[in-house]
Amino acid sequence: MFYHFKELTSTIDEAREAKYQHGDVVVAEHQTAGRGQRGKTWSSAPGENLTFSVVLDTSFLRVDEQFLVLQAVALALVDLFADYGLDARIKWTNDIYVKDRKIVGVLIDHSLAPGGMLSRSGAGIGINVNQRIFDEWLPNPTSMALETGHAFDPGEVLERFHARLMERYEMLRDGRREEMQRDYHSKIYRLDTPALYLLPDGTQFTGTIRGVKPGGELVMETDGGEMKNFLYREVLFVI
Ligand code: BTN
Repeated sequence: MFYHFKELTSTIDEAREAKYQHGDVVVAEHQTAGRGQRGKTWSSAPGENLTFSVVLDTSFLRVDEQFLVLQAVALALVDLFADYGLDARIKWTNDIYVKDRKIVGVLIDHSLAPGGMLSRSGAGIGINVNQRIFDEWLPNPTSMALETGHAFDPGEVLERFHARLMERYEMLRDGRREEMQRDYHSKIYRLDTPALYLLPDGTQFTGTIRGVKPGGELVMETDGGEMKNFLYREVLFVI
């Protein structure tokens, strides 16, 4: 079911309510406290874009398998954009890029069950659909309209995404992990391309992404030929 709201603080908070079941979508035209990664806010022009959360039953996954949920969501987004002729890439960990610009942000909220299992997950997703002018402090935003030159019906985009997500979710549920991992690998932003990265201490280095492990660590080859694994927040992309 799709639940539409004119205004919410954040769809992530609403989607936590027990009344929402697997597959339900909570959509807000406007979020007064939209949340982004690393404690940032997510701003989105009301009515122009999509800000929503999808509830997923993830009770068959262990807590240490949570990256697989993000993988399924990211692939569903790439599938969605392919339907519209856009070649999107997954920028580790949570962004979807078209060329060097961010078109989607994802924030996943997991609820845990006893015994080290997940119980359910709320995939909070912000898709830039029709917005053409962005706040100047945003580093590199883009939208479907900017990339294609025409506007989209956000409702149709959302329904299509939902269908794509359910397909990827079924793959996950059926244990088709190697296939997912292969698909994910082929869509990694900057794969096998030397580029600049930043460590938390401010050091910049040139590295080449060689892949992402099933647990979510980024595998990077440094320009000295050394292989390094990075966890979330241990390395930043210089765009
Ligand atoms: C990011 O920082 O890139 C993640 C942004 C996630 C934004 C979406 S919009 C719908 C959902 N509700 C929120 O408050 N955040 C997510």
